[in-house]
Amino acid sequence: MLVVRELTKVFGGVRAVDDLSFNVKSGTIHSIIGPNGAGKTTLINMITGIYKVTSGEIYLKKEGVSSGDDIEEIVHGKRENITNKPIHSLVHKGVCRTFQHLEICSSMSALENILLGFHRFLNKNFFLSCINSKKIKEDEKRYKDEALELLKLFGLEGIADKEAGSLPYGVLKKLEIIRALATKPRLILLDEPVAGLNPKETAEISSIIREVADSGISIILVEHDMKMVMQISDEITVVNFGKKIASGTPKEVANNEEVIKAYLGTKHER
Ligand SMILES: Nc1ncnc2c1ncn2[C@@H]1O[C@H](COP(=O)(O)OP(=O)(O)OP(=O)(O)O)[C@@H](O)[C@H]1O
Ligand SMILES: [Mg+2]
Repeated sequence: MLVVRELTKVFGGVRAVDDLSFNVKSGTIHSIIGPNGAGKTTLINMITGIYKVTSGEIYLKKEGVSSGDDIEEIVHGKRENITNKPIHSLVHKGVCRTFQHLEICSSMSALENILLGFHRFLNKNFFLSCINSKKIKEDEKRYKDEALELLKLFGLEGIADKEAGSLPYGVLKKLEIIRALATKPRLILLDEPVAGLNPKETAEISSIIREVADSGISIILVEHDMKMVMQISDEITVVNFGKKIASGTPKEVANNEEVIKAYLGTKHER
């Protein structure tokens, strides 16, 4: 689904991400872990076009293309170079994200926040909207129904009309994921989706993330909760000081000496 090649981001003298390469397979959960300041959010910011890359490339599988050998796919044009593409154009290609720090419109209702995610499907042609207002109304009703369905999936059907600003932190973390799902992504990047949540909320979000991946959506997960990462990841890439120090299955990574060394003395569970 995604190929990241020799990606580097330099801020002044800091190499926040340093020559990082990895591939994300379709319909899998690929976690990126590493100590605080390792470059995880910077990596997500580059993939989602928020930061310009210093060097390197990012490729996304084109829609409707079946998987095969990675290099062959690039050569045969089955992947698109999305390096430095802005986030709004990536959303149209099926890439979306959540943020480490909540990005929710607190004066809007929970439902309205989710409907923002459906924005990309709304008809932007003013004249067409005028002559076909019935269709617009039907679309709006459909998106509202879909948003309510998503709320139900997360056990939050009761909060649709509540003002987001009045909702607890744990609910808002879920709302961010729901809004991302509303864009009907092929690839979703989650930056610390369970940070600050209690074990029950963490377990709920974990099982939903697993279900989402099993439905065919690829997931890049950045998370400090090692228990969750080890339980739900298909593959893990470990970074330290911007560099990849290990990659593999949860078992392979957990037994890697470099990984154990990088984590010793660091506060990796919040
Ligand atoms: N906009 C920026 N300007 C300058 N330096 C930055 C910027 N963003 C990140 N950095 C630096 O890049 C490095 C990596 O930061 P980043 O936020 O990507 O780490 P992280 O792995 O997400 O950490 P955490 O687990 O604490 O969220 C840090 O040294 C940070 O100070
Ligand atoms: Mg971060």
